[in-house]
Amino acid sequence: MKALILVGGFGTRLHPLTLSFPKPLVDFANKPIVLHQIEALKEVGVTEVILAINYQPEVMISFLKEYEDKLGIKIRCSQETEPLGTAGPLALARDKLVDGSGEPFFVLNCDVISEYPFAELIQFHKSHDGEATIMVTKVDEPSKYGVVVMDEDSGGRVDRFVEKPKVFVGNKINAGIYLLNPSVLDRIELRQTSMEKEVFPKIASDKLLYAMVLPGFWMDIGQPEDYITGQCLYLDSLRKKASTKLAAGRHIVGNVLIHENAVIGEGCIIGPDVAIGPGCVIDSGVKLSRCTVMRGVLIQEQASVSSSIIGWHSTVGQRAQIENMTIGEGVHVYDKVHINGGVVPPHREIKSSILTHETVK
Ligand code: GDD
Ligand code: MG
Repeated sequence: MKALILVGGFGTRLHPLTLSFPKPLVDFANKPIVLHQIEALKEVGVTEVILAINYQPEVMISFLKEYEDKLGIKIRCSQETEPLGTAGPLALARDKLVDGSGEPFFVLNCDVISEYPFAELIQFHKSHDGEATIMVTKVDEPSKYGVVVMDEDSGGRVDRFVEKPKVFVGNKINAGIYLLNPSVLDRIELRQTSMEKEVFPKIASDKLLYAMVLPGFWMDIGQPEDYITGQCLYLDSLRKKASTKLAAGRHIVGNVLIHENAVIGEGCIIGPDVAIGPGCVIDSGVKLSRCTVMRGVLIQEQASVSSSIIGWHSTVGQRAQIENMTIGEGVHVYDKVHINGGVVPPHREIKSSILTHETVK
């Protein structure tokens, strides 16, 4: 089977992290987001992944080379010269997707994290006569997603698909994970066009769109607050699976992931809901909760970080306090500085406290 991952958006809502890496290569739980997806696709027998790309192609291409061999899966790029939206890239990759077998193929948004129940999706797709299956999940605030309207007794057949509805039409939302028959490609023109606004509504009105409620957790991690919530849900699912990846020990509270190459000092309190990447050095007496500490970060003595993302190779000085922040790559926060609420672009030095929610220039 084949899969196409839409990796082309600019990821502006995940600034400042996406100022350093394209969104699919931003680490989530110590691994680029897209790798979580590629590994799960491989598990269900996908042999070829096509990355639909229009942004920073060089970075993605060198990443691919490394992982094709490591994972034993074919990874190809389909490169747009201008953004084609969420459907146009499928038309562009048509020849790469269709191999005459008639088999359905997966399509994934690159920023959705879940347990990827792809085997269940394949089974459900085979059970109906529709053309396309989308996974859906229930949320409290559906207005920032695509919403599916369906009758409980319709066997999963979707009546209507409404992208980012202004008025409430339902709470089952598009999880950005699809299994499509090749015939769906006949509905898509090679131009900038949207699955959600143009293609799905038409398939639904032809009564050929089906939806399956996704088992387990789900989150679109394309915004910092959602990224951190997604990390909590992910760590919780590791806990439920009794995963040996979770850290244990006197200084650990709740669900914590620590890369084997990270160094943790004496007397730290780490957790709950923390991920610490490779090469990090966490000095003694540091407190970390509900945060992501990416590759190569140094956190010095007695500093504390909560509800924040600390970008690659940044340093946090002694007794500094960081709360509710998204900090880009290579930032240096000085000793005793207290920052709460805001965003710091890559390679800045924060020498004094900032206690109002703001983006550092
Ligand atoms: N190749 C390519 N070209 N990819 C694109 C382009 C483009 O022009 N524009 C967006 N993408 C990719 C993004 O990288 C992402 O993987 C996916 O398409 C969806 O774009 P987002 O910008 O993340 O959309 P969203 O989060 O507002 O909404 C989408 O996801 C929700 C679930 O997370 C929609 O599919 C909603 O219906 C859905 O509920
Ligand atoms: Mg998104």
